[in-house]
Amino acid sequence: MGSVPVLTNIVMRTVSLYAAANSYRMRTMSAESPLTEITTCPRCGKSPLTEAAGALQCKACKVEYPSIGGIPWLFAEPDASLGEWRNRLHFALQQLSNEAAGIKAELQNDGLIDLTRQRLEQQLDAIDQHRNALRKILAPIDIQSSQASYESYLALRTRLPSDHGIATYYANIHRDWSWGDTENAASLEQIKNCAGDVELGKTLVLGAGAGRLSYDIHMQMETELCVAIDFNPLLMLVAKSMAQGDQLELYEFPLAPKRAEDFAVLRKLAAPAAVRDQFHLVLGDVLRPPFAAASFDTIVTPWIIDIVGDDLPFQAARINNLLKPEGRWLNFGSLAFNHADKARCYSAEETLVHVEKAGFAPATVNEVTIPYMCSPASRHGRQETVFSFSATKQSDVKAPPRHKALPDWIVTGKDPVPALQAFRTQAVSTQVYAFIMSLIDGKRTIADMAKILEQQKLMTTDEAIPAIRNFMTRMYDDAQKGKSL
Ligand SMILES: C[S@@+](CC[C@H](N)C(=O)[O-])C[C@H]1O[C@@H](n2cnc3c(N)ncnc32)[C@H](O)[C@@H]1O
Repeated sequence: MGSVPVLTNIVMRTVSLYAAANSYRMRTMSAESPLTEITTCPRCGKSPLTEAAGALQCKACKVEYPSIGGIPWLFAEPDASLGEWRNRLHFALQQLSNEAAGIKAELQNDGLIDLTRQRLEQQLDAIDQHRNALRKILAPIDIQSSQASYESYLALRTRLPSDHGIATYYANIHRDWSWGDTENAASLEQIKNCAGDVELGKTLVLGAGAGRLSYDIHMQMETELCVAIDFNPLLMLVAKSMAQGDQLELYEFPLAPKRAEDFAVLRKLAAPAAVRDQFHLVLGDVLRPPFAAASFDTIVTPWIIDIVGDDLPFQAARINNLLKPEGRWLNFGSLAFNHADKARCYSAEETLVHVEKAGFAPATVNEVTIPYMCSPASRHGRQETVFSFSATKQSDVKAPPRHKALPDWIVTGKDPVPALQAFRTQAVSTQVYAFIMSLIDGKRTIADMAKILEQQKLMTTDEAIPAIRNFMTRMYDDAQKGKSL
């Protein structure tokens, strides 16, 4: 019951913030956008988008797609996705606040040595500044702070992919725009090797991240037009700042800091120069690409085909569909499919077969080992043998079914929630877990709790002891992990 006022609060806030985003949109999209020539509605997948009052819209679906910080927000459900990213931003901010509160509590310990105290104070200061920086950059998706508690966000945590937050791939920002010259040059070289002498023409980069590779391709490979799409607003808003020649300062939090001062490193981020014309950023889902069929001469997939949840044959058919006849698919990155179905975790050989089955001529493959995310402030860094290929479209294939990441009862919230067996099972275990949690009073032992579970006829003491211990171990691990950035 306690969560109802919180939910109402969130709904009210969403309404008022959306109004604020609308007024932002009015200011950011004014001139006729060349994007209207190549975009289609991500909802119906058919109708071209038109521009009206500074926003893109689908007349057939009667949906308006806002511009967020000057970047078209082309998600099939623009309101739901905006609300979801806003929640994820608040969740990240809450985590940072919790982290700061934890450090403050640790600083109360008089037994800390001076170096530890100094490091914690620096980290605390960096977290505070980082929090402010994130709020500033992401102001276009959220202009005020949320009052909702950390606990309610944990409970409400929704999907895009559930493991994907605002700060996922945050490290890429620093690699792209601060210390990563060597790695960025190695990435561009792979694309150049794949492309050979053929001009790229109209180019689309799927899953462009913080945008450096797209920028380098556009600046150094004479693309006629370059569109970079990603669904993460932090990465895209940073890419926008960089592309227009702005400078940003952001903290890097290396994975394995080399020295005390490396726990939080303030980096200056900048592009070598403002990007030239015909470079476009789009916020949207690559599984529902908001582009018209046969719009592009080249599609680049950097470190993405094994990341998205969609099966490779569908991705390949979608890419085919977006390419003009004789268009080219340039892939670059690791190959580490991770899916519950082992049959979908394709080898390099299987990948090439699926590329051909999707209407492409046999691909030319290039594999080299390059450094990956080797921050100078971190002891951690990888070598990756990247799997790059160039494949030319030979024939059209049937367009794949439109991707539905989530059922309507989640996205619109208007259909009944189905009583799936898996949900019932989950409900029972959640009740048991909630009951166990309610028994924690700082006095009872695991054995005491097991006896109560037996009295409640939930399980025998012998069954309960290992079950409670497992559950407590997980809770304890989560609590420990919750402390790290
Ligand atoms: C491994 S990173 C690669 C980023 C960039 N291509 C690079 O090489 O640095 C994967 C990127 O794909 C994006 N991504 C993942 N799933 C996506 C989806 N369904 N739609 C749009 N972007 C997605 C993530 O936000 C992230 O930026």
